[in-house]
Formats: sequence, structure tokens, C-alpha cells
Amino acid sequence: MAKKPSYIGLLNAIANGERGGYELFNAWSNSTSDEALQPTLNMIAVREMEHSWAFEKRLTELGFSLRSATNKSLNKHVKLLKSKATDEEKFASFGFGSADDARSETADALLQILSDKSIDPQTGALMGRFISEERDTGRRLSKAFRAMKARKKKQTA
Ligand SMILES: [Fe+2]
Repeated sequence: MAKKPSYIGLLNAIANGERGGYELFNAWSNSTSDEALQPTLNMIAVREMEHSWAFEKRLTELGFSLRSATNKSLNKHVKLLKSKATDEEKFASFGFGSADDARSETADALLQILSDKSIDPQTGALMGRFISEERDTGRRLSKAFRAMKARKKKQTA
């Protein structure tokens, strides 16, 4: 058998992280009463789950299997997103609001994913798509946040 690629742990971490992302956005998508926001949350939830599957699929293609991880802070966050907290509070739990630019750090962290020069082309293509979609998700979420705030402003005016 060939040597274990150096990026197996990374693929595993992304598969687990995206699975968590699905749980978060699915919980929020099911709990919001804002019909204008819900389609964006649902799209992101589907995207996160597809990422999780795509990375788990790649792991299995390379001859490995997913090691799932338990995450206490994720469970707490899911609980908040399922709750009756406002959508503003839920956005704030992702860094939207006072520190809107918290998202730009995530983008920098994403670039690190491709820094391993031994990544095979198929895995690299998957990672490139993943990074671009995550950035698009960030943009769409920012847009949905601004649109929600504009709607609220109109309501109170
Ligand atoms: Fe994600």
C-alpha cells in the first residue's frame, strides 16, 4: 500500500467541520420565521452537508474512513440556533453585527488548506471548489444579514 498522504487528517477535519456546519444551518433554517432569510440558510445547510460528503467520499477513495469527532461547543451552538433567539442574535453567534469583519479571517484560514504541495490533483480540485464555495457562502450570509437589517429598519420606520 502507498504511503499515507499527509493531508488525510485535513480531509477528515473538513468532513467533520462541514457536518457541524450542516447541523448549525439546518437548525437555524428550521427555526427562523423570516421567509426572506430561510432560503439562504437552507442553501448553506445543503452546501455544508454536500461538502461533508464530498470530503468523506475523497477519504474513502484514498483508502481511509472518517473518524468522527464529538464537539461540545458545536452542540451548544446548535442549541442556540434551534432556540427562539432572534435572527440577529443568531447572526451575532457567527460574528455578524458588531464585528462583521470576523469573516475575513476565515478566508485567510481557508487559503492554508492548499499550502500542502503534495496534494493530488483530484483532492486539490475538490479543495479549490470548497474554498470558493465557502467564500461565496460568506458573501451570501453578509448580504442576507444586511437585507434583514434593512427590512427591520423599514418595519420600525
Ligand atoms: Fe463550511
